[in-house]
Amino acid sequence: MKVTLSQAIEQLKSNSVVALPTETVYGLAARFDSDSAVQQVFNLKKRPQDNPLIIHVEDQSQIKPFASYFPSDFEQLAKAFWPGPLTVILPVKANAILPIVCAGLETVAFRVPAHPLTLQVLNAVGPLVMPSANLSGSPSSTNPEHVEHDFGKDFPVLDGGVCAKGLESTIVHFYEGRWVIVRQGSISAEVIESVLGYRPVIMQKSDRVIAPGQHYRHYAPCAKLVFERRCDEPPYILGFRERDYPTGSRVLLLGSLANPEETAENLYRVLRQLDEEGAEWAWVDLDFPQDGLWATIRERLQRAAGIH
Ligand code: TXA
Ligand code: MG
Repeated sequence: MKVTLSQAIEQLKSNSVVALPTETVYGLAARFDSDSAVQQVFNLKKRPQDNPLIIHVEDQSQIKPFASYFPSDFEQLAKAFWPGPLTVILPVKANAILPIVCAGLETVAFRVPAHPLTLQVLNAVGPLVMPSANLSGSPSSTNPEHVEHDFGKDFPVLDGGVCAKGLESTIVHFYEGRWVIVRQGSISAEVIESVLGYRPVIMQKSDRVIAPGQHYRHYAPCAKLVFERRCDEPPYILGFRERDYPTGSRVLLLGSLANPEETAENLYRVLRQLDEEGAEWAWVDLDFPQDGLWATIRERLQRAAGIH
């Protein structure tokens, strides 16, 4: 159910949960300082309690009271990417944040989102936790209809249109003297390198530092995604505009090979469409570049396929 900006603000102030738009994906918002509101977010998403949440703030200055220390180059990262799709993990000050938010860790994640409506909400309500507005394990929501599909027609959503980025924020963590990527996202390692002067290493599932959420199956439709060509005419193909595919297959276009931003924006909508159409399986054309935003797209497809 679409709500107005002032309704969204009122409901959040009274400790209800509301879905809000961001430039990456829709988020399930609740006041960060309300134990019951945060618990509702976990319940609604059916999210494991050991998976911490990102605190969203209107302005970098608002995180000062909560972090015990700011690692080197934090200022540069914030200046380069906020508001925008970067999440930064910082050491949490003792007793400054509800344990449920950090899932008991000694760190806490922050982000300043770049959507004008949500910045107005943050200005009026204060910091908000905001996991992606999808049932745990499913593809994230990139438009209000996806949110209503997962949480029901009556669930309050502030309509901010289609999310421009379409993939979640990139999460960085300062580890052993360097920033590392613990979740790939809308900002590629190469773009972060242009600010830091070195390329942050992308942590793998087996590494010691990783966003806890990366251990779970994620972003997955019910339809099975297959990468090896099993037959000449797969029932469904996820592919690219420039390519020719068999005429007997139903092709869902991800975008153009010349424009990874377009595929990023479309990816979760296309994964959800497979389930809406009742697809059992789809072959995914993974013949695209390895670098930049394509690396995040490949990682999301692999996770959606249950590989990783
Ligand atoms: O783009 C985004 O980041 C979206 C929009 C709504 O802002 N939010 C989002 O939240 O993707 P969520 O909860 O779906 O994913 C947050 C990820 C999880 O994998 C979680 O494990 C990780 O962030 N995370 C949160 N706090 C952390 C911490 N203290 N240390 C390591 N990872 C953390
Ligand atoms: Mg999520």
